[in-house]
Parts: sequence; C-alpha cells; structure tokens
Amino acid sequence: MRLLILSDIHANWPALAAIDETFDLCLCLGDLVDYGTEPVPVVEWIISNAAATVRGNHDHAVAQRVQARPGRGFRELARLTRTVMWRDLTPRHLKFLSRLPLTQTLSIDGKRLYLVHASPRDPLDEYVANTVDGWRPIVADLDADILLTGHTHVQSQLEVDGRLVVNPGSVGQPRDGDPRAAYAIIDGGKVELKRVAYDIDRTIAQMRASGVDPKAIDIAEPVLRTGGAASDDS
Ligand SMILES: [Fe+2]
Repeated sequence: MRLLILSDIHANWPALAAIDETFDLCLCLGDLVDYGTEPVPVVEWIISNAAATVRGNHDHAVAQRVQARPGRGFRELARLTRTVMWRDLTPRHLKFLSRLPLTQTLSIDGKRLYLVHASPRDPLDEYVANTVDGWRPIVADLDADILLTGHTHVQSQLEVDGRLVVNPGSVGQPRDGDPRAAYAIIDGGKVELKRVAYDIDRTIAQMRASGVDPKAIDIAEPVLRTGGAASDDS
C-alpha cells in the first residue's frame, strides 16, 4: 500500500498541485487553510482525495470563526489571510473543517498509524522538541508503530524506542530552509521524505489577485521563497 502523507498545505494550491505521485491512500495531518489565499481548491482536493484527515489549529480557528489577534509574523499573516478564508470558503467547506477529528488511528500493511496535527497530548497546538528525548514521554504509551505529525513545518523522521515519528513537513509553507513543497511517501512500511519544486511566483501572483492586504504578501513572500521563518515572528 502506497501512502501519500500531506500536512500544512495552508491554502497554497500551486504547491499541492505540484505533487505528482501515484498513491493508494492519502492521509492529511491538517492545516489546510490560512497563510495562503487559495483555500477552496485545497479543501476540495482533500475532500475528494484524502482517506483520512485530522484537524490542525488553523482549520479549527477558521471553522470556529476565531478572529486572530493582531500580532507579528505568522500570527499577523493568519489574521490578514483569514478574511479571505471566510470570504471564499462555503458553508460546506467550513462544515468539513469543523468535523475533522483531532486524532485518527489506522492499521495498514501490519503497521498501526496514529495521525495527529501537533502531539497526542495536545493535538492542535503543542510544539514538541524534535528529538528522541522530546518525543520519548509522548510516544511511550502510544498504541502505534508510526506517529504521523505535522505543525512544525519541518520535515523529519525519528526513531524513538522502536517507533517512528514522521513529520512530512509543510506542503504550502516549509520552514526548514528548503522552499520546495514537502511531503512523505510510506510504501510497505518504508518512509520516504520527499520535496518537489513548485511555481512560487504563481502563489505570490494569486495572493496579489486575491485582494488580501498587501502586508500579508510582505510577510509571506520571503518565507515562501527561502523556506525560512518569518523574520519578525515572535
Ligand atoms: Fe501549519
């Protein structure tokens, strides 16, 4: 069974559309929305193609109509793009986001997979130190062979006491120094972390065309082009 693992697409349709893989099942680890300005094709694609999706903190905020507070860096980017989410997403899309489960477990090819956006003990928000020691107490009692998690936008694979902790990275806003879209393939239990270049110019042009506050583009563009963190993020 060939699994396509996606996370943190963040309304960046050109990034998602660049992933050219055959797969038997697509699993999505949340954060479909905010930061970019094309949420509709992203949510539609996931509705049509993902066999399982868990809720990210941004999916939760958009679906619950939480207004982000003004701030700096990514918080401000979320605030500015959220108006586009609410303008463009239909009630059907918002209902889909609101009903996403916080966690999901699947058994595939004899492996037990545990899907969560951030962490099993805090599914939406926790940033776990991405080290064996950071994950050890969290996975110790987990009934799973592979923990699939996103949220950090940093692609990684760790072996922790016989379990695998896999973060496919971010499709739509990588922050690990490589601006290419990040994802993972799991085939027969073997994990492959992958990247694909996409048309970042098209993403930026679409943001301009969306009518979003230009301050959002000022924040997003350097992050998208470098795969780095927002310069003024707190
Ligand atoms: Fe995210």
